This record gives sequence, C-alpha cells and structure tokens, in this order.
Amino acid sequence: PEEDRAALERLAVAMALEAGRLIGAGRPARIDVHRTKSTDLDVVTVMDERAEALLRERIAAERPDDAVLGEEGAGVSPGTTGLTWVLDPIDGTVNYLYGLPAYAVSVAVVVGDPSRAGAWAPVAGAVVNPSTGELFHARAGGGAYLRRVAHDGTLEHRPPERLEVTDVDDLGQVLLATGFSYDRGRREGQAAVTVDLLPRVRDLRRMGAAALDLCHVAAGRVDAYFEWGTHPWDFAAGVLVVTEAGGVVSGLAEGSAPSRAMVVAAGASAHALVRAELARLEAGDPALTAA
Ligand code: IPD
Repeated sequence: PEEDRAALERLAVAMALEAGRLIGAGRPARIDVHRTKSTDLDVVTVMDERAEALLRERIAAERPDDAVLGEEGAGVSPGTTGLTWVLDPIDGTVNYLYGLPAYAVSVAVVVGDPSRAGAWAPVAGAVVNPSTGELFHARAGGGAYLRRVAHDGTLEHRPPERLEVTDVDDLGQVLLATGFSYDRGRREGQAAVTVDLLPRVRDLRRMGAAALDLCHVAAGRVDAYFEWGTHPWDFAAGVLVVTEAGGVVSGLAEGSAPSRAMVVAAGASAHALVRAELARLEAGDPALTAA
C-alpha cells in the first residue's frame, strides 16, 4: 500500500541523511585504505564500514524482520517480510578517499532479494551527496525529488524539486555518463566501447559514483548513463529515482531488467539510442561487455 511505501521512503531518507552526516562531517582529514576487495583498486575505508554498521543498526531497530544486503557485509542477512534493504554506505569510495566531492550514501528497499537469481523491484530509495548537500529520493509511483540538506545535516525547509529526465533523440547530442570497473582486464573492453562512442556523442562523463550518475540522469544533468559490472547496492536506489523521473532503465537486451551485466538509464529516446549502440558493440564482440 501507498502508506507503507511512503513510510519506507521516509525511513530510507532518514537513514541516508544520518549516514551522510557521518561520512560527510565525520570524514577524517587523513583517510587511508583500510582493506581492498575484488582487486587492488577496489578499496574500503574505515568510514565505509562505520556507515554500513550505522545503517544496519537502524534497520535492526526499525525493521528487524527485513533482510539486509550491504556492500561491505558478507551476503544477505535474511528476513521474513520479503523486503530487502540494499545499502551502499559510500558509493564513490575512491572519490571519498581523495576528497573529491562526488560520493554518496545509497539506501534502497526492494521487494525480493537482489543477491539471488530472479526478479526484484525497488519500492523506495534515497541517495545523499553530503558534499553538495543534495538528497535524491523516490518511492514507487510517488515521483522523484531533490531536496537540499543544510550544513547541520538536516533537511532545509525549501519545497522539494520534482525531477524529470531529458528527452534527446539524437545520439550526437547525448551527454553520456559511464563508469569503469575495478578489474583492469575488463577495462580493455570498456576502453574499446569508449573509443567507439566518444566521437559520436556530445561528450562523456566519468564522475565515479554510479548512484549519483543515475540521480544526475533523473535531474537532467546528463542525458544517459550506462555501466556494466555494478552491483545492486550501486544502482538499486538510483534506478528508482530515474524511473520515477520519467526515465527508462534496462539491461542490454530491450526490456530486460538492469543487472550486474548492464545498466542503461536515460529518457526514452536516448535510452533506445544508447542501448542499441551497446547491443551493436556486444554483437560485434561479446568480450566488450562481458560481466
Ligand atoms: C563504484 C562507483 C563507480 C563505479 C563502480 C562502482 P563504490 O562503487 O559507483 O562509479 O564505476 O562500478 O563499484 O565501490 O565506490 O561503492
């Protein structure tokens, strides 16, 4: 029901704001790599772990029967409600490490379990960029909004801005965002796709935080975004923000769900153009987009 979705959205927003205060105001002046994960480039700071612990504590207190899937946790903590909280305590960890102001907390609650095969669907989501004081949030059927966060980490009393994707039907005019893998081998395919697309679009952006890339599509700050190799915690909240802003999000095949294999997000016309280009490249050389 709508009331439940609205309550879940409020909780996602409150949790993202709280974790945003922790990583933003609490960012140590000197911050080091605490450990690495899939490759030497896939880094974790102590703040990733602290922020995820905070988010998990809140869920345990408020929604103890829901499942939790977090970037820094091992696997899913099971639940009984059919809902899973999907958490990225710091999306854009490399930006965070360097102090580049493009990192975010991403909190989504979905029906289903994204760590298993099978369909799942976001119900509500919130993405906070503590450096810019921006909060993007949405719930299924409720629209996508941008709100401003004050210096003390609370919401400003300005009315929320409703988000809307752009509508561009000429590939040559598409401002296209993407991201690259932590796996250096996979980057060879990503480089080849970049070489193919760069001369034919308006320009490319690689900002370093998938959740924010999706919110930027929703806000019309870029026309489209694609990336392969991202995880549900990177994109679960952002996908909902884009669709609620009138956009289309899919995998590589037309009408498929976004997944680790591919996320393509844009207004309908640009989505069709970009997805078709990626499918053409994949047909020519499947290694280019292999996950
Ligand atoms: C990463 C960022 C980056 C994207 C990578 C993600 P993390 O997330 O979203 O932009 O290119 O694919 O893994 O590791 O900083 O949470």
